[in-house]
Amino acid sequence: MGIMRTKSIEQSIQDTEDPEFKLRKALGPLDLTLFGIGVIIGTGLFVLTGEAAAGYAGPAVALSYVVGGIVCALAALCYAEFASTVPVAGSAYTFSYASLGEFIAWLIGWDLILEFTLGAATVAKGWSGYFVSVFEIIGITLPTWLYAAPGGGPSHDFISLIVIALVTTILVIGIKLSSQFNSVITTLKILVTIFIIGFGIFFISTANLTPFIPPAKPGGEELQVYLLPSLLGIDTIYGVTGIFTAAALVFFAYIGFDIVATTSEEARNPQRDLPIAILGSLAICTVFYVLASIVFTGLVPYDTLATAAPAATALEATPFPAAQLIVSLAILIGLTVVVMILVLGQSRVAFAMSRDNLLPLWFSRVHSTFRTPYRITIITGIVAALLAFFLPLVTLGELVNIGTLAAFVLVSIGVIVLRRTRPDLPRAFKVPGYPVVPILAVISCLFLMGFLTIGTWGRFLVWMGIGLVIYFGYSRSHSKLANQDSSMGANQET
Ligand code: ALA
Repeated sequence: MGIMRTKSIEQSIQDTEDPEFKLRKALGPLDLTLFGIGVIIGTGLFVLTGEAAAGYAGPAVALSYVVGGIVCALAALCYAEFASTVPVAGSAYTFSYASLGEFIAWLIGWDLILEFTLGAATVAKGWSGYFVSVFEIIGITLPTWLYAAPGGGPSHDFISLIVIALVTTILVIGIKLSSQFNSVITTLKILVTIFIIGFGIFFISTANLTPFIPPAKPGGEELQVYLLPSLLGIDTIYGVTGIFTAAALVFFAYIGFDIVATTSEEARNPQRDLPIAILGSLAICTVFYVLASIVFTGLVPYDTLATAAPAATALEATPFPAAQLIVSLAILIGLTVVVMILVLGQSRVAFAMSRDNLLPLWFSRVHSTFRTPYRITIITGIVAALLAFFLPLVTLGELVNIGTLAAFVLVSIGVIVLRRTRPDLPRAFKVPGYPVVPILAVISCLFLMGFLTIGTWGRFLVWMGIGLVIYFGYSRSHSKLANQDSSMGANQET
């Protein structure tokens, strides 16, 4: 057995019935889709689009969104099949525990912890940018020490702490409260995105959009830090390469559809509703992203968009300053929900890992009144707050992307493995075009990972190294399955 031991799917489902660790089943299909959109649209669209357009792709950032959308759609199909087969908390972690063995499950769980905790920190930094922007629009300049280190030193962001503290408190109080709250705010976020597109389009200048793909120009050293371009000796920015480097960054904007799967224990009919929610929310967001990025880069020259609040920057080009204020305020509220769902996703993954004793059981006790895993939620909040305070937004975002893409690779392989090892399991949703789609998902995720920086790869490998130390130093011997194996062995001997 050892690192290849798998937890049976029946056992995984049965574990969720243990009253001490049981979550309430309260979410329907609309809740789940809104939940997906609620986390998908966020700092990726409202902040990273600006960085990606200014630094790498120009108006062709819209094509980067197409690339990101295709990669995510391939992975989402695999996610949907998994989610419809193994409806328990923990997302890809749980699916892989039942198919690829404990070790790979640990790696995926560890990736997801990176995705959600750092994701929450990244979005909190986007929140901070729009917070400052709202004050600026109404004529109040906040002191810079609140969000930046004096003298332009490393990140020093007090403002991002406010939103993390707020959402952690809401989550400790309970999921139902947060899910109603989420639906209202997500609707607001959808409306503001439609507004940006529908209103902004009237003020687009075609001059800003031509040439749509800026000609490649020498990037020199700047580009040598990207893994695949440096291996291939590509030394230009913008042009076609820029579309892919930008795609690797704005991939962050798609993160979230996988989080829908982490709530499956709280879904009333997960086998049917999760695939609908995962694919539906991803499709809606892709359309929004392509259109909104054309509007951003059509309103102002793309090289002016690398600000902390690019939506506000772009709308400056319209003759209605009130639009800027309303949009910035709505984004601020919308981003609050994204942080909330990321912290929620993280607490659910750690909850599942701890229920399996791969992390200490202490983490997963639910609160006696609120029925929420409050300990892990509070710890996640504290760690995300520290990361948001000290690290720059793009560094955080890239690290989230690499962790998520790595998890997608493993999930896509998992679909193939599970089809072979458990063909008998009922699957409410099956990946079409099997096995081509899962194989393409693996290749495309690896390809996009190649357009991240070597520094990001290094940080990612360090993170995974820490994961290995914890797994072999603690989890492997404490695992519930390990102890079941040894007690079964002892029974057989007596
Ligand atoms: N996709 C989410 C965002 O862009 C995490 O904020």
